[in-house]
Order: sequence, then C-alpha cells, then structure tokens
Amino acid sequence: MPTIRINASVSSGQTPRALGLGLQWSKKAAASVKEILGRYPVERSRSAVIPLLWLAQREFGGWLSVDAMQLVADTLELPYIRVYEVASFYTMFNLKPVGKFHVQVCTNCSCMIRGSDAIVAAVKDVTGIEASGENSADGMFTFTEVECLGACVAAPMMQVTLADGPLHYYTHLDAGKVREILGHLKKGGEAATFADTSPAKHDPICGGYGG
Ligand code: FES
Repeated sequence: MPTIRINASVSSGQTPRALGLGLQWSKKAAASVKEILGRYPVERSRSAVIPLLWLAQREFGGWLSVDAMQLVADTLELPYIRVYEVASFYTMFNLKPVGKFHVQVCTNCSCMIRGSDAIVAAVKDVTGIEASGENSADGMFTFTEVECLGACVAAPMMQVTLADGPLHYYTHLDAGKVREILGHLKKGGEAATFADTSPAKHDPICGGYGG
C-alpha cells in the first residue's frame, strides 16, 4: 500500500530542502496524491508515476530535484531509478531549475515543414538564449526545443509552461506572433492571452491535442 509523507508546514511552491526540512508533500498536495492513487488498483499504483511527477514538479518550484523524485519513488514504493527513467524521458519534466516561463518549441516534422525554424529564431532573438534548455539571466525564460507536442494540425506551435503548472499552447504561429506573445509575457502579461487554454485539448496527463 503506498504511503504519503505529509508536511503540514510546507505550502505549495516552497522548497523544503531550503527550509532545512525533508521533502514531503504539502497537505494540499497529499490530498491530490490520494486522489491520483485512487484512480489505479492498489497493485498497479506504480502507474501513477507520471501524474505524481507532474504534481511534484508543480509542488517544488517547476522542476524535479533528486529529492522530489525520491519522494515520488517512496510514495509509490519504487526504486529511485524507475522514477528517474520516466522523469528523464519526457520533456514535460525538468531536471534542473527553470525560468518563470518555460518556452518549448516543437521542431518535429509538421512544425518543421510549417516553419518552426523561424519560430526558434524569433524566440532566441527575444529571449537571448539558445533552445538547449538555457535559462535567461533575468530568470524569466527557459527555452527548449522539443519533439511533437501533439498539436501537428495547428503547426507551427510552441508551449509555454509556468513553474507552478499551468501550460498554454500557442498555435498557427509565425515570427511576428512569437515576438508579440513573448513581449507580452516580458511586460508581465498573462500567459493565457493569445493561447488556446482548453485543458481538454492538451492535458499533459491524459493525452495530446484535440485539434
Ligand atoms: S509536429 Fe509539432 S506538434 Fe506535432
């Protein structure tokens, strides 16, 4: 039976290690853990590894430290390496700290044919960073080139994820739109502006984009 370590003094977004505490789920996150585990038969609880990693990423500042992955492993009673294997495979998981906005541009076939090179160039131009997971000096942006994000029908596209979880798809892009969107974010604008925000269309846990 999985166990849920709870620390009542840790609220979402804090990093317990910095506070000198062991990594534990906040009360709120623990309730989510319980709900997620309830979706699976007890003997199949390891199937919850992706939603729990996603929860841990939002809980601990937008990235997965070794301790955060260990907490997921402990919760699911799995060896750490099994959790790391999953976390290191998917680009939705960050294994190092990210900026306030994580910009991920798809350069797979459909997006490439529809002009993703221009999208990459525009992001690089506005943020001043490379698409290799680099962070901007001001902490605003992380930029990563990724494989298909399931929005091929609306290519070219980019995804912007906020450290505490919400993500937004921007589709049918061109360089001008990218400059407008990132300029808007730089000025403190809402990430949802210009984006398709329907969660059913791009739920990272349940699947891809509905078109
Ligand atoms: S090829 Fe870019 S979203 Fe599928």
